[in-house]
Amino acid sequence: MKFFIDTANLKDIAEAQALGVLDGVTTNPSLMAKEGITGADNIIAHYKKICELVEGDVSAEVISTDFEGMVREGEALAALHPQIVVKLPLIADGIKACKYFSDKGIRTNVTLVFSAGQALLAAKAGATYVSPFIGRLDDISTDGLNLISEIRMIYDNYGFQTQILAASVRHTMHIIDCAKLGSDVMTGPLSAIKGLLKHPLTDSGLAQFLLDYQKGNK
Ligand code: G3P
Repeated sequence: MKFFIDTANLKDIAEAQALGVLDGVTTNPSLMAKEGITGADNIIAHYKKICELVEGDVSAEVISTDFEGMVREGEALAALHPQIVVKLPLIADGIKACKYFSDKGIRTNVTLVFSAGQALLAAKAGATYVSPFIGRLDDISTDGLNLISEIRMIYDNYGFQTQILAASVRHTMHIIDCAKLGSDVMTGPLSAIKGLLKHPLTDSGLAQFLLDYQKGNK
């Protein structure tokens, strides 16, 4: 399973990259705003900085909600850097734009996916990635992980190449469950990735090893 980090925070991206397990970055307008990155020029400069920090795919989201606007923005974003993946919302014009970019060989991430039917449409439009938001489904008492299973089954039934990018991952168990269910990618915060490191038996075992080494090497 590929690990993407879901943030526009350069420090967190650099820390995940330094860990050696990072395969890419996802951003969205809310994550950009959270870092105080506003205005088209600053946002574009920020995408470039992210691409220089990491080696993998970097999702950059369009703001337009009409086909022509999405195409215009998406082409400009894709031209910024070869690592950029154009992120499109799952609305009718987003699906049309996805098909347009797919036909042109420009990679896409179809976002704001909350149902298996939406994921099926994204795959048929040739999306590179589809982003089901599991945490936001959990927030409304709906099993987000069940959506990952449904999409996995549908994509496997027909051999769709679209990669399932589990998004709105909030914690470590989400990552483990997505891996069990065969999600191709997960995107989550640094805290969830670092949470995978933790086990008290690792800490106590290491402390004991170091103690025993010191005893035997006095
Ligand atoms: O990857 C999608 C993500 O940014 C949304 O996460 O935690 O706002 O639901 P969240």
